[in-house]
Amino acid sequence: MSETKTILKSLAGEAQPVPPIWMMRQAGRYLPEYRETRAKAGDFLSLCYNPELAAEVTLQPIRRYGFDASILFADILLLPQALGADLWFVTGEGPRLSTLTTEAEFDALKPAEAVHETLNPVYETVRILSRELPAETTLIGFAGAPWTVATYMVAGRGTPDQGPAHALKNENPALFRRLIDRLTDGTIEYLAAQVEAGAEVVKIFDSWAGSLSGEDFDTYALEPCRKITAALKARYPGLPVIGFPRGAGERYVGFAKATGVDCVALDQGVDPDWAAREVQPEGCVQGNLDPSHLVTGGEALERETRRIVEAFRGGPHIFNLGHGITPDADPENVHRMIAAVRGA
Ligand code: CP3
Repeated sequence: MSETKTILKSLAGEAQPVPPIWMMRQAGRYLPEYRETRAKAGDFLSLCYNPELAAEVTLQPIRRYGFDASILFADILLLPQALGADLWFVTGEGPRLSTLTTEAEFDALKPAEAVHETLNPVYETVRILSRELPAETTLIGFAGAPWTVATYMVAGRGTPDQGPAHALKNENPALFRRLIDRLTDGTIEYLAAQVEAGAEVVKIFDSWAGSLSGEDFDTYALEPCRKITAALKARYPGLPVIGFPRGAGERYVGFAKATGVDCVALDQGVDPDWAAREVQPEGCVQGNLDPSHLVTGGEALERETRRIVEAFRGGPHIFNLGHGITPDADPENVHRMIAAVRGA
């Protein structure tokens, strides 16, 4: 691991005059070259499981923008598929899965160690990337957090309020617990294999952490993330881990300490000055520009970008969006954002 990689310096706790930068969903539909490669692959899942083309779309934003990090092109829902769930994507709508609400459906899942059979092509993508990325670019692997992945598995699709997962959690806590544990073990397997293949950092996406409150936040957001982080760091001492409990609000405070992650990714719902005071003293923070600025651009994009850089200047920071870039974003606005970060 090279200490000169700027992302690794931030993750090690160093404040830098210019924060390193990458973007969630940086390989995505806002880029014409992504749309072209996806069309070549046929559909989104075929792209995820085609190592050459998945590596190609991962590299596209690096070539175009020179980001400091590259995130593996895959999806958090490949893990449930590897555990035996059916998965397909409806264009323009999103993911669909077979639902999981009964003991029998849980018992039909494969053991955690069996996930590699399905996920081998993803590890091959990581191997290609670790050969082909520029020497200064950090390769980030990722997985969904157990709670977020469970919300899709239980409902069979994305839901506005994660209602079906909350219902199963409250009505059959023993079954829900077993599902979370299986996902925790599967995630450890999946992320460890990504590290073996060459991922230098891993990120755990808990996109729906914000719908957990009280003790549930401890049980289903903090605890699985702590277990995954501890298991990976036991195998790979020094491996940096980024946690993203999106929507956690004031529960961002103490998250790094409770889970052992090196960095917390902040969504745009938290004020940067507040987070600099309350969260950044506990370690590196990543974030948190509202992705809508990349659609609308202009003065507001540059002002808000500089405000975030300024707010976090006193400590370790990785500049990023508060959530993924959207398909309607203007690729030129990404250049403007990067110029504002690097020139700010
Ligand atoms: O960030 C990256 O560039 C790396 C690749 C990546 C994708 N998905 C590719 C993708 C990553 C890190 C993810 C994570 C992911 N996937 C999350 C967590 C982060 C978040 O956004 O909250 C979630 C919840 C998913 C599940 C998922 N995948 C949904 C709900 C959808 C449909 C919504 C949408 O944006 O279309 C996807 C599809 C998906 N995953 C796309 C991409 C580039 C778009 C698919 C396409 O090309 O048609």
